[in-house]
Amino acid sequence: MGRLTGKVCAVTGAATGIGYAIARRLAAEGAHVGIADIDSDGAARVAADLGETGPEAYAARIDVSRADEVDGFVTGVVDRFGRLDAIVNNAGVAIAGSADALSEEDWDRVVAVNLKGVWLGMKYAIPHLRAAGGGAIVNMASVQALVGFPGWAGYAATKGGIIGLTQQAAVEYGTAGIRINCLAPGTIMTPMNERIFRTAADPDALIANWNASHALGRFGQPDEVATAAAFLVSDEASFITGTCLRVDGGLTVLGPTGEAV
Ligand SMILES: NC(=O)c1ccc[n+]([C@@H]2O[C@H](COP(=O)([O-])OP(=O)(O)OC[C@H]3O[C@@H](n4cnc5c(N)ncnc54)[C@H](O)[C@@H]3O)[C@@H](O)[C@H]2O)c1
Repeated sequence: MGRLTGKVCAVTGAATGIGYAIARRLAAEGAHVGIADIDSDGAARVAADLGETGPEAYAARIDVSRADEVDGFVTGVVDRFGRLDAIVNNAGVAIAGSADALSEEDWDRVVAVNLKGVWLGMKYAIPHLRAAGGGAIVNMASVQALVGFPGWAGYAATKGGIIGLTQQAAVEYGTAGIRINCLAPGTIMTPMNERIFRTAADPDALIANWNASHALGRFGQPDEVATAAAFLVSDEASFITGTCLRVDGGLTVLGPTGEAV
């Protein structure tokens, strides 16, 4: 028996990267998993993979910024598996730009996917979590909500908004038995960052710099975020709500490096 046997979980942005690792981990612990992604082939591939080794999974192609599509996904998971116990609102896009350089179009898109998308996942999951007598929500924030990174104004704003939304909802739905937390990963090696490295002026220097920005001296791997997500979903986190768990290799506690005195 896995820790999540009998539970039904939904994960957005699960075709690749951190979301895929989370879906894999939840399934490995026994959950039926609903997989949503804007990449329909990727979502279907992940659902098929998971179904081969674990409980049956369900896939849907959605854009998390579209209310009707998020509603349809959540309803589809409940129709398929009969209930919903948790949602991991993970889908996000990395759109760079400083406050004075970001276009209005880019601002609107990053807010629509990263922040509105998380809210929509909560909005449509909460009635089903209530119906199940309680459940868990895990929202994907970032260390960029906690410390400043040059060149990421819109992205950082969305991640800060996710922490505020998580805290607000945690106090509102706690007595309904719904625990709501978020994760703040440091730099995790996923297709999102691989794209950033590919287009960097000096990829090797950027990689070395980002590795050195973590107290552990290295990037994280998607599975290292997935274990934290699975913990927050599980009943082992039964007294944890409203928190932002940093899975950041010590990035946010690292002060100046080199000789201190
Ligand atoms: N990789 C990191 O270093 C890092 C650090 C902190 C936080 N995060 C956050 O973790 C989450 C996952 O990041 P990742 O690195 O795995 O990214 P990724 O780009 O590798 O994967 C993101 C997934 O989300 C999907 N997606 C994108 N837009 C979507 C939309 N509108 N609707 C539905 N699905 C959509 C993509 O198709 C993809 O499968 C994001 O919210 C990101 O901001 C990542």
